[in-house]
Amino acid sequence: MTRRILVVDDERDMRVLLQRIISQETAHEAVVEADPFKAIERLKTDSFDMVITDLKMPKMDGIQLLEEMKKIDPTVSVVVMTAYATVETAVEAIRKGAYDYISKPFRRQRIVMMIDKVMEWQQMVGENRALRKALADKNTLPAMIGTTPVMKDIYERIRQVAPTMATILITGDSGTGKELVARAIHENSLRSDKKFITVNCTAIPEHVMESELFGHVKGAFTDAWKDKKGLVEAAHKGTLFLDEIGDMKPSMQTKLLRLLQEGEYKPVGSEVTRKADLRFVTATHHDLKADIEKKRFREDLYYRLNVIRIDLPPLKERREDIPLLSHHFLQKYARLNGKDISYITPTAQEALVTQPFPGNVRELENYIERGVIFCQGDALTLQDLSLDSDQVSFFTDMENDIFQLAFKEAKEAMIHLFHRQYICTLLAGSSGNISKAAEKAGIQRQYLHRLMKESGINARAYREDVT
Ligand SMILES: Nc1ncnc2c1ncn2[C@@H]1O[C@H](COP(=O)(O)OP(=O)(O)OP(=O)(O)O)[C@@H](O)[C@H]1O
Ligand SMILES: [Mg+2]
Repeated sequence: MTRRILVVDDERDMRVLLQRIISQETAHEAVVEADPFKAIERLKTDSFDMVITDLKMPKMDGIQLLEEMKKIDPTVSVVVMTAYATVETAVEAIRKGAYDYISKPFRRQRIVMMIDKVMEWQQMVGENRALRKALADKNTLPAMIGTTPVMKDIYERIRQVAPTMATILITGDSGTGKELVARAIHENSLRSDKKFITVNCTAIPEHVMESELFGHVKGAFTDAWKDKKGLVEAAHKGTLFLDEIGDMKPSMQTKLLRLLQEGEYKPVGSEVTRKADLRFVTATHHDLKADIEKKRFREDLYYRLNVIRIDLPPLKERREDIPLLSHHFLQKYARLNGKDISYITPTAQEALVTQPFPGNVRELENYIERGVIFCQGDALTLQDLSLDSDQVSFFTDMENDIFQLAFKEAKEAMIHLFHRQYICTLLAGSSGNISKAAEKAGIQRQYLHRLMKESGINARAYREDVT
């Protein structure tokens, strides 16, 4: 099917070249425009599937043009062309909604491939518009727990970027939920019915990595008895999740860059280039910028990966989510272990909220799992949890520690602890019903709300229907 492409560039040679490539090597129709303002006018009256525009033009830069065009037709796919020096601007363009960028100079083939990719994407989006709307209407991500503002922002971001083709970099400390986010992106994408394949770049030694990813042909090395498919092929049309990308060795980084840029790879021992259609999601706990400086990570690969970034905060920066998460894990492991444990005692809850958790959500989950195994009754207690002893002693030795502080601080610490203990116990006794709890305590509902907010307590953690 013929589709229409609008080319915007102030340089005549470039316009001629692109028009020639499009008419000779694709089935589509090209319209060229030297003046960005005229291009905008054209888009208002005419319809295009794709726009290819230069980034640096005298009258208006490509980013502005992109923004104007997206206002007129949000469905048009815009690809920007850029010289290497302005690659950061190109990344900025992608954040603003461009489909992708092409660095100049480029090979003919690169333009043709990009056009094919965009047209395939346009078709897929067209077919899935209804699905897309349905996804956008949902305001929860079922697998992810947490209601703190940072987490809500993350859900929102996932929902925005999931249905696009953009490469995503997820950063965060160990155990913060990077893999969970990667899965959520896949589940909310147009590829959710295809495979989600994880490649752990740490666990695989370098020489094995290449054959794991790209596969190999018979005889490629001593143990290669027969042809083997790689994970790239297994993930074709789906999502490839490259976990711990910061650990990937430089020679593999180069091969990965080719896969990302051209969609091409070669199985080990083969001279035949193969194609893959993949959505890339990557994750790392490294500071990639620092790795670039130490020459451990390729800068051009970083720009490719860092188009859209999702940063997961450590658990200690969202302690208010701990009660909800704990309750979620309690239900999960009680069910798995066939135990009937319905709640976490307020003292145990209190201890959990103040634990340091260097291992983040994963560590919290481990504590609860272990606690459930040891638990004899219908509530998870402080003893069951076997938290680090110096943390627990904070509660038992509070009376001693308090005398080390100045009077004002000691009083505040005591009041804070009292608020938390009192409110946790109160809410546990009223199954998280705030009105009931306030009545029982003889205080105003609004006042209780304020106290809860100050102490970072969430009533949902005490409700029985929480999942
Ligand atoms: N927001 C959340 N809601 C529910 N479960 C979560 C959440 N975040 C993390 N988890 C759980 O915590 C565990 C660790 O999460 P995950 O494996 O995604 O972390 P990670 O950042 O990839 O960790 P690592 O760096 O150790 O690989 C998983 O069992 C996951 O299901
Ligand atoms: Mg992980």
